[in-house]
Amino acid sequence: MYFVLAIVLLTAGPIVGRPQNPILPGFHPDPSCIFVSEWDDTFFCASSSFNAFPGIPIHASQDLQNWKLIGNALSRPQQLPRLTDAVGGTSGIWAPALRYHNGEFFILTTLVFDKMPINDTARWDNIILRTKDPYAKDAWSDPVHFIFDGYDTSPFWHEDGTIYVQGSHPWEVSPHIDQMQLDLDTGKGTPQVPIWNGTGGLAPEGPHMHLKDGYYYLVIAEGGTGLNHMETAARSKQITGPFIPAPHNPLLSNANTSSYFQTVGHADLFQDSQGNWWGVALSTRSGPEYISYPMGRETVLTNVTWDKGGWPVFENVSGIISGSTLPVRPLIRGNGPLVTAPDSIEFTPKSTLPLHFAHWRIPDPTAYAISPLGHQNTLRLLPSLLNLTGFDANSAPTPQTFVGRRQVHSEFVYNVDIEYAPTAPEEEAGVSVFLTQNHHIDFGIVCLANTSASCADSTVLRIRTTSTTATGPRPDTIVPLAHPRTTRLEIRAENLTHYTFSYAQIGGSATRVATAGYGLSADVSWGFTGAILGVYATGNGQNASTPAYVSRWRYEGVRQVIIDEDSG
Ligand SMILES: *[C@@H]1O[C@H](CO)[C@@H](O)[C@H](O)[C@H]1NC(C)=O
Ligand SMILES: *[C@@H]1O[C@H](CO)[C@@H](O)[C@H](O)[C@H]1NC(C)=O
Ligand SMILES: *[C@@H]1O[C@H](CO)[C@@H](O)[C@H](O)[C@H]1NC(C)=O
Ligand SMILES: *[C@@H]1O[C@H](CO)[C@@H](O)[C@H](O)[C@H]1NC(C)=O
Ligand SMILES: *[C@@H]1O[C@H](CO)[C@@H](O)[C@H](O)[C@H]1NC(C)=O
Ligand SMILES: *[C@@H]1O[C@H](CO)[C@@H](O)[C@H](O)[C@H]1NC(C)=O
Ligand SMILES: *[C@@H]1O[C@H](CO)[C@@H](O)[C@H](O)[C@H]1NC(C)=O
Ligand SMILES: *[C@@H]1O[C@H](CO)[C@@H](O)[C@H](O)[C@H]1NC(C)=O
Ligand SMILES: *[C@@H]1O[C@H](CO)[C@@H](O)[C@H](O)[C@H]1NC(C)=O
Repeated sequence: MYFVLAIVLLTAGPIVGRPQNPILPGFHPDPSCIFVSEWDDTFFCASSSFNAFPGIPIHASQDLQNWKLIGNALSRPQQLPRLTDAVGGTSGIWAPALRYHNGEFFILTTLVFDKMPINDTARWDNIILRTKDPYAKDAWSDPVHFIFDGYDTSPFWHEDGTIYVQGSHPWEVSPHIDQMQLDLDTGKGTPQVPIWNGTGGLAPEGPHMHLKDGYYYLVIAEGGTGLNHMETAARSKQITGPFIPAPHNPLLSNANTSSYFQTVGHADLFQDSQGNWWGVALSTRSGPEYISYPMGRETVLTNVTWDKGGWPVFENVSGIISGSTLPVRPLIRGNGPLVTAPDSIEFTPKSTLPLHFAHWRIPDPTAYAISPLGHQNTLRLLPSLLNLTGFDANSAPTPQTFVGRRQVHSEFVYNVDIEYAPTAPEEEAGVSVFLTQNHHIDFGIVCLANTSASCADSTVLRIRTTSTTATGPRPDTIVPLAHPRTTRLEIRAENLTHYTFSYAQIGGSATRVATAGYGLSADVSWGFTGAILGVYATGNGQNASTPAYVSRWRYEGVRQVIIDEDSG
């Protein structure tokens, strides 16, 4: 038996009630979090960003409830130009490990290219980023690259000064956790040594090492990042092993339960100022049906009890976080928004794109201009040759003109005004629910004429999906558009399974016309990422030049839905 806890959020202000999951809703997978007393008792978390750029969002909180984006560890294209070479929907930046040591913040992470020969270290570009002030603009260093045949690398500072890195060996070859010693300044390391095979689950990965009461605890994820996901642990008196598994693994999982929160795993552990232990993990709000989960893998928090000499005991993950003892302290520092804050963006002169906006791979900077001459308070998009699918739904040899923000509420309203009149066949601009190049729903203004001369008469609104359901792609929905000047385009998640797309013409009839509702299963519930809502402009494979002017950008959460087992 289930009940629905639908909490209407006061999205404009900080959250003051009981802490609830997810703490970082939306596309924020593979959390790695730390508590840093030297920085005013603040918690910091890093998330995987795959092909999104800027990448590796860093959130901060002082109460574990209100989380503010303070920056992106990858904020400059020249830090990692090869992000453009990451092809496929599941490539790019995987699993940053965030750590603080001796006055400095470190991230170890992996830039993953699409499948290379599986013994080829060139598939994995492991990197080290660092900063002494995570609040600074462009805070994080250029990377130091190091060789590790695998991914999910995570550092541990031994008392003797040696830095040990734990990471995952590719699961297709020989799934296990490897260890090496690494010089974080030079990237010079020792050969990889296997230290644990895990308990037999698929893909042992996401390892983190913790020293407690004389034991080195190796805590890892297994089972793959789907319904069988779980967290397991082993420990040893020596950093190099042998590692003895916990007597009752897994320590954390929602596999084989009916919880709305599924795929729980890829955890990290930290202590607060009072010495309480906490765990974070990724989870998918999908229920065991695992069909509709457009926000993908989100970050959840759970209480951990870790007695002296024993194993960490995680509370099971659910919507309400039990046993919080932290006073509410909404964080003030940092330039980004609280993760669930609404958008009300006017693109005023001299402003820049907000910190929480993201592109897919490294953008062409000339495609975006804020308040260009004669078009104050707009974001001008110049169309890319490629649409959001690209040539082959996989690679993007040229950047796509697209910028968006993560969907972070079960139900929301997102709309923008677009001043746009295409002047050549196939020119298109609009809004999209974008998951990956092969999973997106586009709602655009497009010229369907065969000649430029007839665009004025043949410009329509079109909803097009990349749906790969058994029945094939959905037919396009096409609505004639009378005078394509400024049009308000809106995407609304009405409930847990459907988006509604509607439009209104400004200056003419202000009626909003609902045009379509789409099931989510194959469209935007897939893979490793989560939905991004944004604007695009493209020539659909043709060189195009007509600009689109985007203004009055709004996003507002309507409901955050948690469904839990009824304890009564
Ligand atoms: C390993 O990869 C190299 C190229 O990096 C290739 O030449 C070699 O054949 C591969 N070996 C196996 C066993 O696949
Ligand atoms: C780990 O698995 C490998 C095979 O992949 C095996 O050779 C090795 O003995 C295993 N190690 C342990 C400790 O079970
Ligand atoms: C879930 O159930 C399956 C089938 O019984 C089992 O193989 C798996 O180990 C279970 N997973 C967990 C985490 O309990
Ligand atoms: C978590 O749920 C499982 C059942 O899925 C149960 O066996 C276990 O005791 C629960 N753990 C805690 C700490 O409540
Ligand atoms: C975690 O839960 C335990 C048992 O319910 C409780 O004693 C402890 O205070 C909780 N920890 C925190 C940080 O709330
Ligand atoms: C474009 O040309 C194709 C055939 O070349 C024709 O079937 C179609 O009707 C034309 N479309 C328009 C809008 O003129
Ligand atoms: C969501 O709304 C759509 C369209 O109104 C409807 O067909 C669908 O059944 C609804 N789903 C749920 C879970 O309420
Ligand atoms: C994207 O553009 C290509 C041409 O580059 C075209 O073949 C394809 O139909 C377009 N698809 C979508 C979904 O945008
Ligand atoms: C687009 O323009 C570039 C550079 O001018 C040219 O190389 C390319 O062939 C053009 N592509 C198409 C599809 O017209």
